[in-house]
Amino acid sequence: QKLDVELAAIEKGGYDHFMLKEIFEQPQTIFDSLRGRLDAKAGKLTLGGLREHTDLLKEANRIIIVACGTSWHAGLVAEYMIEELCRIPVEVEYASEFRYRNPVVGKGDVIIAVSQSGETADTLVAMESAKEKGAIILGVCNVVGSSIARLSHAGVYTHAGPEIGVASTKAFTAQLAVLALIGLKVAVEKGTITEQRFQHLLDELEDVSDKVAIALELNEQVKKIADKYKDARDFLYLGRGYNFPVALEGALKLKEISYIHAEGYPAAEMKHGPIALVDENLPVVFVATKDSYYEKIVSNIQEIKARKGMVIAITTEGDQIIPGMADDVIVVPEADELVAPIISVIPLQLLAYHIGVLKGLDVDKPRNLAKSVTVE
Ligand code: G6P
Repeated sequence: QKLDVELAAIEKGGYDHFMLKEIFEQPQTIFDSLRGRLDAKAGKLTLGGLREHTDLLKEANRIIIVACGTSWHAGLVAEYMIEELCRIPVEVEYASEFRYRNPVVGKGDVIIAVSQSGETADTLVAMESAKEKGAIILGVCNVVGSSIARLSHAGVYTHAGPEIGVASTKAFTAQLAVLALIGLKVAVEKGTITEQRFQHLLDELEDVSDKVAIALELNEQVKKIADKYKDARDFLYLGRGYNFPVALEGALKLKEISYIHAEGYPAAEMKHGPIALVDENLPVVFVATKDSYYEKIVSNIQEIKARKGMVIAITTEGDQIIPGMADDVIVVPEADELVAPIISVIPLQLLAYHIGVLKGLDVDKPRNLAKSVTVE
């Protein structure tokens, strides 16, 4: 038994938990997912797995992303990316809903199945039925040779390495990186992106691993914030645009790991309901990095402060306004809004992790959850 304990410690590479190890691996796993594909200096992108299918993607009437859980959140970010870059309509579907409702799908549609494990039953069946109806299926999977990867016509692997912690962390950021590459590849082939924007986004992706490493230096600060808020009964997570799915993911991480009720919402939508929950006991996490929605989110923060909510804000370096309004501020490096989710999610993963640990919970194996859901 002593040997088992020692072996487990070695596997965790000196970290207390797999979840923390995997959070800290992200600069490397993002880099690995971009390596050999992105060449910013040469202004080039190579996606070997899509080679024969880039034309089909370019000409797609519609892209439908099917996924579950955290992978579904990555799909939502991809919707914003692909619509902006490629001007192709994108729908993001919960695989479980898509598979049962007899959706309208057929030739000309491209399905992108996003899955860490490549074994999620709902995602697998959803893509099977779309395939039968004539759609082209692409897989974005982390596990090589997994069922979803094998069922896909083509795809692009994420190279996050084995993810042991039940709550997905490094697979998510790898998915965002790969989905950005897919969006950029199609956009450049289709001619829906200027050369300048294309090069700028390649440069931004090239730099993102280093920025994630900087965001990880916030660990101790986030731990203190976790201690301050760990006894809250509920949390609200708000974001807009590219950061809206990040808010959903932050809330999901907290639920999974700390068993605290948390809701993610588009910040502007809060006035249609969640604002009724706001009082001096409600921590509200704003993902409020500098982007085209910045001024709007500043006024959303004001609305929460006017109702005495406690605001924890993820902001960009150099922000002069939000630090004067929020109770706690977590400052991350500046990035293009399309790439920003890869960075802004980091403190939210850490926050959920520390709250879970401070509550004495088993963060690597939260109750009732499975790493891979292979049943309906
Ligand atoms: C389970 C896991 C989640 C994961 C989801 C989808 O619920 O606990 O972390 O996001 O399945 O899994 P997949 O392997 O398809 O990405």
